[in-house]
Amino acid sequence: MTKLPSVLITGASSGIGATYADRFARRGHDLVLVARDGARMEALAARLRQDTGVAIDILPADLTQREDLARVEARLREDETIGILINNAGAALSGAFDEQSLDDIERLVALNTTAVVRLANVAASRFAKAGSGAIINIASVVGLVPEFGQTVYGATKAFVTFLSQGMTHELAPKGVYVQAVLPAATATEIWQRAGADTSTLHTMMRVDELVDAALVGFDRRETITIPPLPDAAQWDNYQAARQAMLPGFGNARAAERYRAAS
Ligand SMILES: NC(=O)c1ccc[n+]([C@@H]2O[C@H](COP(=O)([O-])OP(=O)(O)OC[C@H]3O[C@@H](n4cnc5c(N)ncnc54)[C@H](OP(=O)(O)O)[C@@H]3O)[C@@H](O)[C@H]2O)c1
Repeated sequence: MTKLPSVLITGASSGIGATYADRFARRGHDLVLVARDGARMEALAARLRQDTGVAIDILPADLTQREDLARVEARLREDETIGILINNAGAALSGAFDEQSLDDIERLVALNTTAVVRLANVAASRFAKAGSGAIINIASVVGLVPEFGQTVYGATKAFVTFLSQGMTHELAPKGVYVQAVLPAATATEIWQRAGADTSTLHTMMRVDELVDAALVGFDRRETITIPPLPDAAQWDNYQAARQAMLPGFGNARAAERYRAAS
């Protein structure tokens, strides 16, 4: 029997990442777990090794730190057993845009975008050469909704969705599958870590339900998976509306409404 690819999961110490670790271990995949909290990942790994018998490596890293990120990139580049990357580590930032600190914004962008695109690039280049592999990027519905008032967080997640769509366009012909998962509010530690007020949220999805739904989308090889969205045609219509603009983008002349009156 051919061996299943190993899965490298960032943000595997809690929430969505830890749940992906559980599910892929139960499917028989060896794992490489990445996050800052090594002790927490060790505890998860011990349980999963015992329950499933898969091999699990722990790679503690702060993905906002270049040297740590470089170690994860090297592992992805050199370890040819890894055939699935789950780009999941991420954080949110509470407060109003004009009151957030530049340092907090920079850290968020480093974690939610720079680390994601660097790891995706390293994985994609090896997977494309091999002609197979999969990359799961965890975005968010917040990236579709500027009205939520989570401006920087939403912008980083819009980046992840666009990145995934563009990667699909470029990499599907090379045998690499890319999925963007867009959760809505899900019950994890992300809220308390960001000091966010959850009192106005009347409902949150359970993390196991979110990950199991995302895996249905993964098994179907969907590009975009939005677990709570009942009507999939709404996303398709949204894409069709975007694509309907493409011919207009090719015009050499400014549109009539922008022509200065002579
Ligand atoms: N929960 C939601 O409502 C929701 C909705 C939409 C999208 N998402 C996305 O889902 C992903 C997972 O979040 P979650 O909800 O599962 O939250 P979570 O429980 O807070 O998990 C975040 C994970 O990222 C890791 N992490 C945080 N900062 C890191 C750093 N600097 N370097 C390395 N790892 C770091 C954390 O581990 P350590 O602290 O050990 O480093 C943890 O394992 C995120 O990308 C988030 O934006 C969540």
